[in-house]
Amino acid sequence: MTTTERFDKHVMGTYGRFPLTLVEGQGTRVRDDAGREYLDFCMGIAVCSLGHCHPRMVAAIREQAGKLIHVSNLYYTDSQGLLAEEMNLHHIGLPGKIFFSNSGAEANDGLIKSARRYGHLKFQADGKPRFEVITFQQSFHGRTLGSMAATGQAKIQQGFDPMLPGFRYLPYNDIASLENAVRDETVGFLLEPVQGEGGIHVASAEFLRALDALRKKHDLLLMFDEVQAGFGRCGEAMAWRAIAPEIEPDGISWAKGMGGGVPIGSFWLSDRAVDDKGTKLSSLMGPGSHGSTYGGNPLVCAAALETLKEIREKNLAANAIRQGARLRAAIESWKLPLVTEIRGLGLLFGIGLNSARIAMGEGETPALKIVKSLISKGLITVPAGPDTIRLLPPLNVTDAEIDEALAILKDTLSEY
Ligand SMILES: Cc1ncc(COP(=O)(O)O)c(C=O)c1O
Repeated sequence: MTTTERFDKHVMGTYGRFPLTLVEGQGTRVRDDAGREYLDFCMGIAVCSLGHCHPRMVAAIREQAGKLIHVSNLYYTDSQGLLAEEMNLHHIGLPGKIFFSNSGAEANDGLIKSARRYGHLKFQADGKPRFEVITFQQSFHGRTLGSMAATGQAKIQQGFDPMLPGFRYLPYNDIASLENAVRDETVGFLLEPVQGEGGIHVASAEFLRALDALRKKHDLLLMFDEVQAGFGRCGEAMAWRAIAPEIEPDGISWAKGMGGGVPIGSFWLSDRAVDDKGTKLSSLMGPGSHGSTYGGNPLVCAAALETLKEIREKNLAANAIRQGARLRAAIESWKLPLVTEIRGLGLLFGIGLNSARIAMGEGETPALKIVKSLISKGLITVPAGPDTIRLLPPLNVTDAEIDEALAILKDTLSEY
């Protein structure tokens, strides 16, 4: 039985998979079961920040696996403490505390729960808790009941009604729509500083500043979903810092690139005082309020710690900015009719496609068609919505690898 046949028989069909069975990877390259090599500019969808099987991560995982793989969060472990310290001191740089989850959706659920806790403290005029989190159209926050309800895309929610109540979706980057947006029950904003799955849209500095001002005016929470954008991919440790660095958010979520490939996510809450007794926002999530059996276990924390140290010590965020600029300059210089615009920040990079120029097959989108064609030429990329292709190379991608990808891109995009 082939791997594909085994999947068809035993694995639930929730993914539209490409006909590719990947067996090994090193750096920016992966190989399939027929021995064919590909340049991987998908990287597990922005997960493998250091590329595949980076020696520093492999060594950390090997060492930790021989020492202690898992213990309950009822006890302390070195690697979780060291990872939280690395994140707080060297990447976030604001006073706050971290909770470790296993994925981005769970991290966002944690933020949503935290916002509801805050709403119990900052209740409405009639004494009822505030609970509504404003999110944005085309956002993506995950697939759990909470994060799916936060996601401003009907196609993600379709067929799973009723949604968890307490969300409202406003147009992204539309400052005018924020006027009168806050209601009695509103407790905060949750947004991606750069929307990933929704097609690579970067928030404007003015938009982030308008949200920050509203947050202060109405005593709300400003929460950033940095699951896809965080930890160097957008050219700063945090994506919002590449846009409006002076903003100090109340909450942040991460996953994907923070672990370099191991299943880990996290959310952070600020230590800022939320009442005149000096109660810290982060302390609202006290004992018994939240938990996860696996969250932040020694194995994943050891791997994530080395990932984040490598990103910091090698200043890979600077490489992300430089390589993103090289990609942009080259693609723009081709002036191809198929390419409508380049969007993104650093190596969260989107190429908008003119769908009128692409004849599509049944069930295909323009982006899917181009991605399939790129894969056939040895470059793995991933769609972001129907008409954007996303390039997500590792943060340590080299000039030569970018040039190689550009050659394949030019060849394919010129065909239309
Ligand atoms: C911005 C953002 N938030 C949340 C998620 C959900 O993360 P996960 O798939 O790890 O649950 C994703 C995944 O693509 C994402 O891009």
